[in-house]
Amino acid sequence: MIPLSIEEIAQITGASLDAVPDPRAVVAGPVVIDSRQVVPGALFAALPGERADGHDFAAAAAAAGAVITLGTRPTGAPALIVADVPAALGLLARAVVDRLPALVIAGITGSAGKTTTKDLAAQLISTMGPTVAPQNSFNNEIGHPLTVLRADTRTRYLIAELSARGPGHIAALCRMSPPSLGVVLCVGNAHAGEFGGVEQVAAAKSELPQALPAGGVAVLNADDPLVSAMASRTAARVVTFGRSAPAGVLASAVSLDELSRPRFTLEMPDGSANVALRLHGEHNITNALAAAALAGQLGMDVGAIAAGLSHAQARSRWRMEVTHRPDGVIVVNDAYNASPEAVTAALDAVRVMAAGRRAYAVLGRMAELGERSREFHEQAGMVAARTGLAGLIAVGDEAAPMLAGAKAIAGPDGQAALAALDERLRPGDVVLIKASRAAGLQTIAMELAGGSSEATQ
Ligand SMILES: Nc1ncnc2c1ncn2[C@@H]1O[C@H](COP(=O)(O)OP(=O)(O)OP(=O)(O)O)[C@@H](O)[C@H]1O
Ligand SMILES: [Mg+2]
Repeated sequence: MIPLSIEEIAQITGASLDAVPDPRAVVAGPVVIDSRQVVPGALFAALPGERADGHDFAAAAAAAGAVITLGTRPTGAPALIVADVPAALGLLARAVVDRLPALVIAGITGSAGKTTTKDLAAQLISTMGPTVAPQNSFNNEIGHPLTVLRADTRTRYLIAELSARGPGHIAALCRMSPPSLGVVLCVGNAHAGEFGGVEQVAAAKSELPQALPAGGVAVLNADDPLVSAMASRTAARVVTFGRSAPAGVLASAVSLDELSRPRFTLEMPDGSANVALRLHGEHNITNALAAAALAGQLGMDVGAIAAGLSHAQARSRWRMEVTHRPDGVIVVNDAYNASPEAVTAALDAVRVMAAGRRAYAVLGRMAELGERSREFHEQAGMVAARTGLAGLIAVGDEAAPMLAGAKAIAGPDGQAALAALDERLRPGDVVLIKASRAAGLQTIAMELAGGSSEATQ
């Protein structure tokens, strides 16, 4: 973070001071919410957690060198006291952005692929200058300001992942760090239950193009009608990406290797170049095109973008993470999250990988789908049935409708799935594990994978 004194932060956030010996003491960052990450000069933001209350760690944070704790009540340690800590972090983030006029801010939103696209875009754009991008999925009212607060005077690009759980959320994140470029990936059924329907999801995602200034650029997915329609909702110049013309950035001559890694010719306004992605699954072409379009708008040429995409690694875990076990079994851990579109994308990838192999899938529930949940699970079951699986395991009651078109080989919990697979898996088999994070299948996937995964190589 850019250095700010305690009294400056109090002014920005409207905080009162408690037990502060010297209000002129300077916070140089980082801003952290985990007291174990405190280093000298840090600001420790105390949040109520699921198991513990951050305020209980204020003294430990101070002992580790935190200049100040930002919290809602006195703890004995030097503190800035506010009514709402995330809101105060948001005000602080905006103040930092206002002090960094040269910072180029790009926002990425969509129902699926935000983290993947953000990771690809950050790997491309960081070759042009110092870039701050969120860790994992830091994309909400807490994670986003923490990301913004990592920017300082050296930072040239901020690549933000913006998520919404309801109307107004993305608009609020855009007020916190006004983007000049915005990418919308897709509008799907993820979280549709919370929003009330896919049109409401589209309206929420359109808050990003609406927030862009006239001199900005809206980067829209030409393949998704709900996204391309957002062209009429923005003052910014529109550029498009997609699988076919007339998209401004597109992929031609697409093929998938035996591990479902896409190869394609990247066609951009300044020329074309070949790409061989290290990521698995055809859906990642869309994410790569979005990252390419964004990098192109920031001045990167097609050759550098294609080379960068071909070298880019999966940075965030449990997204199509492929592990080759010593016994020859291939484990695909896609247990980070699941929506109807994401399950289809993962099964499509497995179908390609299953050519000449036996394929199994362990599918858990897709959360937050609202009243159409059962219907979506049944549809996912149809897709699974068409994938030609040697066996399907549905974990948990809510996932049971997925078995509509296929025979269960185990159930209903993760341990039963492991035992059933243990009996069946032979060298050369491939097994996909996918569910919403709430189902907790990533631990099953890690247990199954055992060996080293390519994400950590
Ligand atoms: N373009 C895409 N189309 C369909 N599914 C996708 C696409 N990109 C990613 N996915 C699926 O969505 C899952 C999550 O990907 P990623 O983490 O990149 O998305 P996200 O939008 O950041 O999700 P979250 O909302 O949880 O932060 C992946 O494991 C994959 O199965
Ligand atoms: Mg994410």
